[in-house]
Amino acid sequence: MYAFDIATDAPKAELYAELLKAADALTAGEADGIANMANISALIWQFVPELNWVGFYRMVGGELVLGPFQGKSACIRIPLTKGVCGAAARTGETQLVEDVHAFPGHIACDAASRSELVVPVKRDGVVIAVIDLDSPLPARFDAEDAKGIEALANLLSDRI
Ligand code: SME
Repeated sequence: MYAFDIATDAPKAELYAELLKAADALTAGEADGIANMANISALIWQFVPELNWVGFYRMVGGELVLGPFQGKSACIRIPLTKGVCGAAARTGETQLVEDVHAFPGHIACDAASRSELVVPVKRDGVVIAVIDLDSPLPARFDAEDAKGIEALANLLSDRI
């Protein structure tokens, strides 16, 4: 068991700095990518407030395939032409969507989702996975959330 003590009501910069330290401690020296994705999903789920889904999609054979996550059962395969996750994987750019209903091609895995943040994980400049966070609140995510999850994605580049 790991007992991390992170104040979920701390300012975002502080919360994400603590989360990064915990993620580093959890994954350092562990070569199994599935185990690391599972633990990072659980860590984000526990400490980032107001989420209804968080997890990984991995690039497998030119499409995104569901990886470890927390939340309701989700769609398994996402083509790069579809959804917020597909856009992140295709462009290699973070997607910050304030209103998923206004995003063309958004895939509603959980009808409760209102806003979404998807960050690509790259290795040697190539997208190998995305981290997807969904919230039932509109405009839940901002640039600070994006920066925090991008730091995690960077840490995980050679650990998943
Ligand atoms: N909403 C995502 C699909 C994945 S689920 O949210 C878990 C999308 O549009 O890519």
